[in-house]
Amino acid sequence: MKVLYTSSDFNCWRKTISPSNSVGFVPTMGALHGGHLSLVEASLKNADMTIVSIFVNPKQFSKDEDFDTYPRDLEDDLNKLKQYNVDIVFVPEFGDIYGYPGDAVVFDDPFSKTLEGASRPHFFPGVLDVVSRLFNIVNPNFAHFGRKDAQQLILIEKMVGDLGSPITIIPGETIRESGGLAMSSRNEYLTDEQKKSAEVVFKSLKSAKKLLDSGVVDSGVVRELINNIMATEKIIEVDYVSIVHLDGLLEVDHEIGGEVLISIAVVINSIRLIDNIFY
Ligand code: PAF
Repeated sequence: MKVLYTSSDFNCWRKTISPSNSVGFVPTMGALHGGHLSLVEASLKNADMTIVSIFVNPKQFSKDEDFDTYPRDLEDDLNKLKQYNVDIVFVPEFGDIYGYPGDAVVFDDPFSKTLEGASRPHFFPGVLDVVSRLFNIVNPNFAHFGRKDAQQLILIEKMVGDLGSPITIIPGETIRESGGLAMSSRNEYLTDEQKKSAEVVFKSLKSAKKLLDSGVVDSGVVRELINNIMATEKIIEVDYVSIVHLDGLLEVDHEIGGEVLISIAVVINSIRLIDNIFY
């Protein structure tokens, strides 16, 4: 496993790779957990070479968010990746990514204005900006993103499709702790007690699925069930409970029909967590 710290070193290495070798890419912000590692595993199975990037992207944090305190432990991340025998870990500096002129929002889509985009307007412009810059440098055949960040995944798939990019986006399933809490780097901020309370998020999604399986199609009833279950954990502040159609990400007002994304965003002691199911 090689660790490359600059774009120029990365470019030199990239030129040595024959076009007949497929390249899989797992972009991350570090603080690697089982979710990231499952994407790494998928890439190792799927492509000839696997590249993981670690870059905490300042542009996807607002001024009052946790950029400064976001968990960073490069040594621990590299130790984990070594066990998987990935080919390259790319750990660029700010200037490697944002060094060339222009800080335009590369891709600004109406899809980016709902759900997470409504609560965190800076987030998707920042994510799509960095992902497109990383794609330019890494030039992968495949790129892996988890379904836990469902809207991010949908927007990246849309960006790649709309730009006619040859990169294939491969979704990875949400990986969960034993109690059902979706793995996230931000879980590191939670105490054991807070983690236990946060399990209610997936519990409510599972109950929503059961209700839908039983034939209930009224979105209001499903939202109410989720809200009632969430209300049993007093330390959890609900930001949104949402049921959107996959085409357009608009809220389902009445009957649920076709594929929907049911998602929840909560705040526990100023730590924001999201989770979802596709149904
Ligand atoms: O999902 C993440 O960790 C980040 O949003 C990503 C895709 C690495 C971009 O910074």
